[in-house]
Amino acid sequence: MKPGTEELTYTDVLINPPPLAPLVVQVTPRECIAITNAGDMLVNAFGSCDNPDFISELHLNAFQLLPERIARILSNFGTDFSASQYGAIVFKGLFNVDQLDIGPTPPSWKEMDYNRLSRYGFISALLHGAVPSKPVQYYAQRKGGGLLHAIIPDEKMSYTQTGSGSRTDLFVHTEDAFLFNQADFLSFMFLRNEERVPSSLYSIRSHGEISEKLKALFKPIYKCPKDANFGADAILEDAVMTAVLYGNEELPFVRFDAAEQIYNEQADQTNEAMAHLVDYWEEAKGLIYSDYIPDSGDLVFVNNHLCAHGRNAFLAGYRRENGQLVKCERRMMLRMMSKTSLINIRSVTHTDDPYLIMEEHYGSLFKNI
Ligand SMILES: [Fe+2]
Repeated sequence: MKPGTEELTYTDVLINPPPLAPLVVQVTPRECIAITNAGDMLVNAFGSCDNPDFISELHLNAFQLLPERIARILSNFGTDFSASQYGAIVFKGLFNVDQLDIGPTPPSWKEMDYNRLSRYGFISALLHGAVPSKPVQYYAQRKGGGLLHAIIPDEKMSYTQTGSGSRTDLFVHTEDAFLFNQADFLSFMFLRNEERVPSSLYSIRSHGEISEKLKALFKPIYKCPKDANFGADAILEDAVMTAVLYGNEELPFVRFDAAEQIYNEQADQTNEAMAHLVDYWEEAKGLIYSDYIPDSGDLVFVNNHLCAHGRNAFLAGYRRENGQLVKCERRMMLRMMSKTSLINIRSVTHTDDPYLIMEEHYGSLFKNI
């Protein structure tokens, strides 16, 4: 930057171009074995990652059990909001998947036997613990349903804009953009992706310097309906408005859901808000990164304030081989969400469970539960 000015020079951009792709960390076989073994050991000691005895001493376990390089990467990730931080890390070959032990992919998440997923729940939790961040659950998603959620394509919901859909593109979104207390960090752990579905990521940092056009997104004039998990009747009523960009003016955070804020007619944006959103989306679309096809054993770790996620449409249970569609096991992904402070979210957490977030829509809580 030129001294005394806020102008970016050509040299600045040359030296520090905006990040356009996530950091990819190739995990070594030795690290992979250590992480997988840590998961198994914790299953023996605690049973499930939801066990309060485990979760209350999570950070201790994270720093003792994770390989130092992995813990260090995550610890730095938790505090790096800089211009060069994309906001997502792809860990390749992080853990071993026992395909036989998991069994066939069930018809939907509701039939999943979570006992088969315990190892993976502990591994996810340790990663969040190293940030450090606390795994939490949201009543707005499956009424809680545990710290680990299996995301499985469900035939009945295949055309929806939810994790259970498959046949339409899942537009990029930050998770739970309709909440003030959305997750700080997310992990997506891939047990199966035999259909070879690419994941999409989009970082607010990919725009580089925030232009005059993008500054309009700091205005608190945007609505976001509750997402498609709720059904149409839940969408209408209150119209709290928020900003899309927030936090630091030069290096902002983002809260955005293309499907709900732009394509959902019930979003009911003002003309001004919609014009800004469409302008922004035109620019953002060109910055979506879709080159990554997750393999079994990979995990994507995301700062939900910097980076949005989504995926391409796919035909669940089929992959293309030599131009032919061949049957395969359906996709299976495990999601965990976390918050860095349980104190800051206490006004919206369940009285008897500070890890359960009861926010329904921008500050309002689920009642009588
Ligand atoms: Fe999502």
